[in-house]
Amino acid sequence: MDSQLLYKYLFHLSIQTLCHFNVIINMKCQSFLIFKEKLNKGALVMVNRRKISIIGAGHTGGTLAFILAQKELGDIVLIERQQSEGMAKGKALDILESGPIWGFDTSVHGSVNIEDIKDSDIVVMTAGIPRKSGMTREELVQTNEQIVRETALQIATYAPQSIIIVLTNPVDVMTYTAFKASGFPKERIIGQSGILDAARYRTFIAQELNVSVKDVNGFVLGGHNDTMLPLVNNTHINGIPVKHLISEEKIDQIVERTRKGGAEIVALLAQGSAYYAPATAIYETIDAIFNDRKRLLPSIAYLEGEYGCSDICFGVPTIIGYQGIEKIIEVDMNNDEYQQLQHSAQAVSEVKNSLKFK
Ligand code: LAC
Repeated sequence: MDSQLLYKYLFHLSIQTLCHFNVIINMKCQSFLIFKEKLNKGALVMVNRRKISIIGAGHTGGTLAFILAQKELGDIVLIERQQSEGMAKGKALDILESGPIWGFDTSVHGSVNIEDIKDSDIVVMTAGIPRKSGMTREELVQTNEQIVRETALQIATYAPQSIIIVLTNPVDVMTYTAFKASGFPKERIIGQSGILDAARYRTFIAQELNVSVKDVNGFVLGGHNDTMLPLVNNTHINGIPVKHLISEEKIDQIVERTRKGGAEIVALLAQGSAYYAPATAIYETIDAIFNDRKRLLPSIAYLEGEYGCSDICFGVPTIIGYQGIEKIIEVDMNNDEYQQLQHSAQAVSEVKNSLKFK
């Protein structure tokens, strides 16, 4: 090859190489521009992040926010009234600052603007006054009904596609209030107490037998008051009926302690009511919804004939998935259990009938 030809060849090669790099650079620039454009529109940032709003930044709301942040189930908004602004903002910031230690990137925002619940996937209602020692949950009805009703209307305005989870007491009747006020379909209104009551029941059984709580499987139905019904005949320790392992007398004591489980904590705390176990029960419900787990969990559902009850929100076994309460399960029970459940429904109905707004 003569030198002229060699130069020509090298020149051609370098032009080709330059063109090649240019194409790559262009491609990279282009994809960077697309990336930047998406970033500007928020497309990359917002994708797949779910939003949970918690109304009420008290002990339960704050504890729930802390659990949810660690579990990274979604971004969290903690809402309070104007006069408690510092509590919502302070708790949110405190939780956020635990992020680098836990390693979560969840956003936790405290606010007094109800508009900040906009487009939430789930709104948890913990707002309301808690009971004091010696009070029944039912004595809270007048004050809390007003709060729950107004909040449900706001949720319907700002987060019309959300699922509402109610914890405010008396929770069966407050769930009914939220259902009526929001106008949401019944599957998107979930009252929660059964997971908590069952957790207490399972704790006491595990303590009595000195076995792991993981092996204790038990269900509690009915109203969240002294008439609730732990299903003793359906309680098992890894498949072994509890009645084979614990005397009837002792089981009766455990049932009684479960029914008064909330009052036991109220008396011990002397101020306010339980919040660690209640918040954890709400976490379990949210986990079942966002992960579409189809968990069989006790929830307070709006009944239309199930268990012989109508136009009432009441604790029953439900399937919880991404649509909320996807199914109500009717379990066989003996006559005595059925009568106890009817008695419990009657107690809830009496409180419901005292509501101002029906
Ligand atoms: C309780 C309240 C939260 O049972 O109802 O502890």
